[in-house]
Amino acid sequence: MFTIKNHLEVQNNHLIIGGADTTELAEKFGTPLYVTNESRIVENFSAYRRAFPDADIYYAAKANGSLAILRILARQGAGADVFSFGELYMALLAGIPHDKILFNGNSKTDFELQKATELGVRVSVDSLDELHTLSEIAQRSGKTVEIAFRVNPDVSPDTHPKISTGLRTSKFGIPAEEVVNTYREASDLPGIAPCGIHCHIGSQILDTEPFIEATEKMMDLVEQVMRTGIDLKFVDIGSGLGIPYKKGERTPQPQDLASVVLPIFNERTQALGISPKLILEPGRYIIGDTTVLLTRVNTVKKAARNFVGVDAGFNLLIRPAMYDSYHHVLVANKAASPPEGVYTVVGPICETGDVLARDRELPNVEKGDIVALLDAGAYGFSMSSQYNGRPRCAEVLVKDGIVDIIRSREDIEDLVAKQRIPARLM
Ligand code: LLP
Repeated sequence: MFTIKNHLEVQNNHLIIGGADTTELAEKFGTPLYVTNESRIVENFSAYRRAFPDADIYYAAKANGSLAILRILARQGAGADVFSFGELYMALLAGIPHDKILFNGNSKTDFELQKATELGVRVSVDSLDELHTLSEIAQRSGKTVEIAFRVNPDVSPDTHPKISTGLRTSKFGIPAEEVVNTYREASDLPGIAPCGIHCHIGSQILDTEPFIEATEKMMDLVEQVMRTGIDLKFVDIGSGLGIPYKKGERTPQPQDLASVVLPIFNERTQALGISPKLILEPGRYIIGDTTVLLTRVNTVKKAARNFVGVDAGFNLLIRPAMYDSYHHVLVANKAASPPEGVYTVVGPICETGDVLARDRELPNVEKGDIVALLDAGAYGFSMSSQYNGRPRCAEVLVKDGIVDIIRSREDIEDLVAKQRIPARLM
């Protein structure tokens, strides 16, 4: 037995996760299959907790909103960042308390704002227009909604442009220079209690510099907002900490983030004589490396490249196609065998871009082998689709050899369950 990465081990040439043999899981539950290690979720959450002992940690449900995963985090004391009524519903169902949830989003429906109001969930307001809508909804419901404003801090982290959210030109947030006036306006509006400030600069960020810049900008704003007489109860600096997808890649840990953010936050709040709660919203760091996607080889073809055709495609893991993301690949039933060739792992989807891993050195790959895509926990299942008429796969949770199914495989009926052919076409 030896460890290949964090919680992943190899025994008898097989990949083991959470004490379970992945080849047996593939046999028992079929493929494709997402497999998540519960203990690793707890380890990752604990690393954040240790680094930020006084902060509230709101798990970003979009990274992976499966109920069992939300439940594990609820039991660890996590709150949630939610971006839709669906995520809010699931977070509450999993036992995350309503007062530890922030309802985010740049384009919420009136229905969503109504639900947040009814359920007593705080809202991160993304525009003046939304502020006025929320005020009307709150008045009609006879309630007061606690809000933060999502600030666009104009910070440009070095990450994929599609996941950089804090740029001046991005669709998220209120420009920093307008924020103070926005608070002034909010404090006069009925049904609205401004009590926090929020930003999020992007995702898969590989150094701490942009977080320093964002925290400093946010604390400048906190000071200016305070001068208007508003008492800020929380400062939410979002998330974005990257994880190492490539072997040997070095990424900052929560501790590194804390060592640059906390001195700024503590010094500035002490100087102002205030004690707002710091909130962080990690998604990828908590769940990314906890999960592997197992997929079976349908066919091997020697053409312009050595193509390995597997049964999962970008319908189940869209990150490589969408962001050119790298996911490390192993042959789960030959996990300790030496590489014998260079292979490109492709899915079954009818698109040239359906490539999961390009030019990888792997042992001799044959039909029936099980390929494991590592670090597939964040934005994997949660971004899946039924494209090309493919029901979504199952998810299992493992812990010390105990295996539980947490989402059943969809079947062909699920493809048609909500569809109707109008009578006039019959
Ligand atoms: N808070 C807010 C307001 C967010 O928009 C996000 C992610 C997070 C927190 C969590 O960020 P994280 O800790 O996971 O970096 N689908 C892309 C990532 C999109 C991120 C969207 N927002 C991917 O697969 O890389």
